[in-house]
Amino acid sequence: MIVAGTEADLRACLAPRRISDRIALVPTMGCLHEGHRCLIRRAREMADTVVVSIYVNPLQFGPGEDFDAYPRPFEEDAAACEREGVDALFHPQNLFPGGAPQVMLRAGEMARCLCGIHRPGHFDGVLTVVAALFNLVQPHVAVFGEKDWQQLTLIRRMTLDLRMPVEIAACETVREEDGLAASSRNRYLDPDDRARAAGLHAALKCMRERAQAGEKRVKALLAAGLARLREAGIDPEYLEIRAADTLAPLSSLGRPPARAFVAARIGKVRLIDNMALEVT
Ligand code: PAF
Repeated sequence: MIVAGTEADLRACLAPRRISDRIALVPTMGCLHEGHRCLIRRAREMADTVVVSIYVNPLQFGPGEDFDAYPRPFEEDAAACEREGVDALFHPQNLFPGGAPQVMLRAGEMARCLCGIHRPGHFDGVLTVVAALFNLVQPHVAVFGEKDWQQLTLIRRMTLDLRMPVEIAACETVREEDGLAASSRNRYLDPDDRARAAGLHAALKCMRERAQAGEKRVKALLAAGLARLREAGIDPEYLEIRAADTLAPLSSLGRPPARAFVAARIGKVRLIDNMALEVT
């Protein structure tokens, strides 16, 4: 595995491979867990050369968020990439050495809900950095996790709206035994909060079960989910049901396919999760 700390190193490593290889990119902020390993394995299935980027992107953190405290266990991450057979690990110090970028992407309506309300500017920062990584790596395919569904949806739209020649592939959320979605931030939960955090998944599952039993009213589903969260001692930042592909609000299930979304602060840690509400 080649570890490229600079863009020049990365370009030099990719140049000969571009001639014949299909290239996959897995953009990450490091602190790799089982969810990332699934993304890397999916990338490996879809391409000859797999590039993982590790960059804690300052543009997607707001004032008072955990940019400085974000875990950066680089040696462990590099070892995990090596074990997964990654070809190139791109680990730049600073993608914007000239200071804050003077041109940024601005996410539209789809960012003015869910996490976008609680993290203003977050998705502009994500899209800007992902677009820069796409331009640099020029991958045929890039792989993202469904846990960050709003991010995945916006990245898909970005590639369509801006005619970016890259396929976006997704991996299902990887969960711990009790259902908690794998996340780099889980390591900050103390044991009590860790136990409570399973309530996020329990609430989504309860909503899905009701939907599968025939409940179509969004209000009734949300009430059931909220009751389940409260039972676990969780006061959510949001609990919503929206169209999976456009994130438009819904009042009843049916068409288009619906998805439930939740975010909550558990102790000091902000966690998010989501789940498809398949209607039978
Ligand atoms: O999902 C993440 O880890 C980040 O938002 C991403 C896509 C790497 C952009 O910084």
